[in-house]
Amino acid sequence: MAYSDLREFISALEKAGELKRVPFEVDSELEITEFADRSVKQNGPALLFEKVKGSEMPVLINAFASMKRMELALGVNSVEEIATRITDYLKMQMPQGIMGKLKMLPMLADIGSFFPKITSGGPCKEVIKRDKFSLFDLPILKCWPEDGGRYITLPMVFSKNPETGKRNCGMYRMQIFDDRTAGMHWQTHKQGAAHYRHLLKEGKQKRMDVAVAIGSDPATMYSAILPLPPDIDEMMISGFIRSKPVEMVKCETNDIEVPANSEIVLEGYVELGELRTEGPFGDHTGFYSLADEYPVFHVTCVTHRKHPVYPTTIVGPPPMEDFYMGKAIERIFLPLMRLQLPEVRDICMPAEGIFHNLILVSLKKAYPGHARKVMHSIWGTGQAMFSKVIVVVDEDVDVQNVSEVAWKALNNIDPQRDIEFVMGPVDSLDHASRLINYGSKMGIDATKKWPTEGFTRPWPDVITMKPEVKTRVDELWKKAGLG
Ligand SMILES: Cc1cc2nc3c(=O)[nH]c(=O)nc-3n(C[C@H](O)[C@H](O)[C@H](O)COP(=O)(O)O)c2cc1C
Repeated sequence: MAYSDLREFISALEKAGELKRVPFEVDSELEITEFADRSVKQNGPALLFEKVKGSEMPVLINAFASMKRMELALGVNSVEEIATRITDYLKMQMPQGIMGKLKMLPMLADIGSFFPKITSGGPCKEVIKRDKFSLFDLPILKCWPEDGGRYITLPMVFSKNPETGKRNCGMYRMQIFDDRTAGMHWQTHKQGAAHYRHLLKEGKQKRMDVAVAIGSDPATMYSAILPLPPDIDEMMISGFIRSKPVEMVKCETNDIEVPANSEIVLEGYVELGELRTEGPFGDHTGFYSLADEYPVFHVTCVTHRKHPVYPTTIVGPPPMEDFYMGKAIERIFLPLMRLQLPEVRDICMPAEGIFHNLILVSLKKAYPGHARKVMHSIWGTGQAMFSKVIVVVDEDVDVQNVSEVAWKALNNIDPQRDIEFVMGPVDSLDHASRLINYGSKMGIDATKKWPTEGFTRPWPDVITMKPEVKTRVDELWKKAGLG
């Protein structure tokens, strides 16, 4: 089911008992963080703060902060349903015979519904402020005590590829500098940064148009974090997830389009070459990421719905809301990864690994060195290039069970032989790498070693009990009064 906007999602969360309203005044400086952190750690609900100190707008947080809420957000019973749908489309081939072709029609018609539609107006234009606005009107959180300021943490940042004109939408945090400027924290590997670099190098213009939408239907908001290849439109992917097109509307002061159902839109530009210190920020890693130089976003116009709701998130020591968002990515992208690497059975990014620090992979091993081939392929694929530690195990190991992986992997390795170090791009948030954005990564081949890999000693089996003994003890267990 496709939500028409954020409000419909809030109602659905409430109906499902997944949202708690907080009716009294709470401070957006640190206090909302403490509520949100405690709630997510206790598997608590999403929170809607109705009275936020110094702002008219309510604040929604933790709306994606459990698998149940991710499923509600994406309109599925299990996020794997999206993976299955993707697989069905990828397998789609022109069938033989008229009946086969007829059967394809609904699927083909479905494809038409994925593409975004341009509309002439929309709810996000209910209030248009070309003047007399301030970013401080929004209830933007100061998340953690040592943060450099207040940060918009759940924005959809829209820009266009200057070469192809294709749209990009990425989620990049924005530190508020003053009434009308904010940091634009697109890290160097991300698409917004690529568009910026292109324009800077070209030198034909002084400004890059950017629009920031805050709050939309949940699939559209979520699409901003998907690690898609360049020039694949996140709005098309949202349309696929929703099975309904995303309606887009042009901004008032630039040529960027934003979702028409957005709660708040900040229109503006980034001045090419203008950098300002951004950070520190209490980050996904659970540490403060260091201050660095980032472009500056200038707001030229604010449009919003009447009585807008301001959605946000906090990141910090895991698990936080971003863990569940990342877990859904893991599940949705597995079939895509398996197109390239069909030998991969499953992958898992445990919460403690903060997306990229640890990827567990199970493999149907078919030839010598297979585990290493898989590691290198992962390091060569999109944002998976950031994977700091990849552990590859045999297909009989359940990678969703981190304790099983640790037990079997640690038994199976001869560290000097089975650990491989490579150099390459690393996540901008990695505070331990020798240089920002560049450092080493580690692959651990924890599969059973084969004679063809030079291992000639016998390889022992895992200890298991005989089934008949288990069955007999099942009965005796009860008889012994052991429950
Ligand atoms: C809550 C949240 C905040 C994020 N903040 C940033 C950020 O500040 N900078 C950044 O480069 N990526 C950030 N990301 C990750 C990007 O959104 C993600 O890598 C996305 O795929 C980038 O889109 P792009 O490939 O279109 O650039 C964040 C992700 C989440 C879930």
